[in-house]
Amino acid sequence: MRGSSLDQLYAAHLDRLMRRTDRSLEASGFEALVIHAGRAPIQFLDDQDYPFKVNPQFKAWVPITDNPRCILVYSPGNRPTVLFYQPNDFWHKSATLPAAAWTAEVNLVAMDDESKAAAHWAKLGRVAFIGPRCLMPDADPKCINPQGLMALLDYERAVKTPYELECLREASELGARGHAAALAAFNRGGSEYDAHMSYLQACKQREEELPYNNIVAYNENAAVLHYQHLERAAPAPLRSFLIDAGAQYRGYASDITRTHARGGGRFADLVQAMDGAQQTLCSAIIAGRDFCDVHLSAHRILGDVMQQIGLTKLPGQAALECGVTSTFFPHGIGHLLGLQVHDVGGVMADSQGALRERPKGHPFLRLTRMLEPGVVVTVEPGIYLIESLLAAAHADERRSHIDWAVAEELKPFGGVRIEDNVATTQDKPENMTRDAFARVANAETA
Ligand code: GLY
Ligand code: MN
Ligand code: MN
Repeated sequence: MRGSSLDQLYAAHLDRLMRRTDRSLEASGFEALVIHAGRAPIQFLDDQDYPFKVNPQFKAWVPITDNPRCILVYSPGNRPTVLFYQPNDFWHKSATLPAAAWTAEVNLVAMDDESKAAAHWAKLGRVAFIGPRCLMPDADPKCINPQGLMALLDYERAVKTPYELECLREASELGARGHAAALAAFNRGGSEYDAHMSYLQACKQREEELPYNNIVAYNENAAVLHYQHLERAAPAPLRSFLIDAGAQYRGYASDITRTHARGGGRFADLVQAMDGAQQTLCSAIIAGRDFCDVHLSAHRILGDVMQQIGLTKLPGQAALECGVTSTFFPHGIGHLLGLQVHDVGGVMADSQGALRERPKGHPFLRLTRMLEPGVVVTVEPGIYLIESLLAAAHADERRSHIDWAVAEELKPFGGVRIEDNVATTQDKPENMTRDAFARVANAETA
């Protein structure tokens, strides 16, 4: 969906956001809200900036992601005012005032100097400020990122509006295009770097626009969960390719992983088994379900996969109980997704800021909430051959439950992860990523 329908959805999104904010401001004793977009930090002993990453609370209101120092001012009963930073600067090109349809929903005001901003909230009563503290030196410290208000906003942000869902679908589609191009680079023998560059070109995003650094890992590198390098030469032999890469659309993120095997054999069987297991887990993204249960059931299902391919010697439930599954699957099954790749509020129990415990022994799970319609999550099971975790398992009672010859055989392939972005609905889950891959494949064959 593009153009006018997305603009209509935006108007409804903004309306819902304003209603939500009205309630949150009232509950926390504030009369108005000021959100600073942030600015790019300067590098130590240098005059160069780090890439600018906009305050997610700011981009929840307006799709401005690339212009630092903008400020949003909102008071209940009024349309939001966006102070759009346009300095007189002959070193840089000042951003152009947006003219897209969404601007009709806000008061867009050009601001050449930040010192002019405070006049816009001087008469609004008790104002809450959201943003980096150092950018709001004149505000009362108690009113900067106040805990009660932040908890309300963070908690409620997990349930997406129809506009946000549409943005997330578009983000998945951009990612799917990038993944197709990266796979083509891998298939023609290109390096990690080549696959990464093909990805960027296909989704037309520069690195700093991505929601996170691409993970482009060949062979053993796939065992490193957040592998961060890009080798400039392809290894020989080339055995496996794990790519975890997303894209942004109007400030919303996708977070997608695919793993590809070169040739057949046990690793290719593992990738295929993982694909089936991942789809089973996606079908568990149902309103009313506890995400901790989804995570624990992932351990049972992956434990069965490990046994089926010969890596372990006991069924999933028993492998979970004795910690064998965590040796190969050390991270969580998923997390909230939205304005940030790891969206806030994942372990909140309520809008007051209480926390919902992770299951014991699962410290890396980022989402412990109950699922409800509109909540978008990732589903990302993985099985990896990680030296340090294998050594720990070898040193204790888990040793007898693992087939070490199979572990050695799989080590040169690194690992497998498959990750989709899934929206909880009233009914069956919407797999935004698989839908996007299908659209991209159809477009390629059309
Ligand atoms: N790309 C980071 C993650 O999957 O959580
Ligand atoms: Mn990912
Ligand atoms: Mn993820």
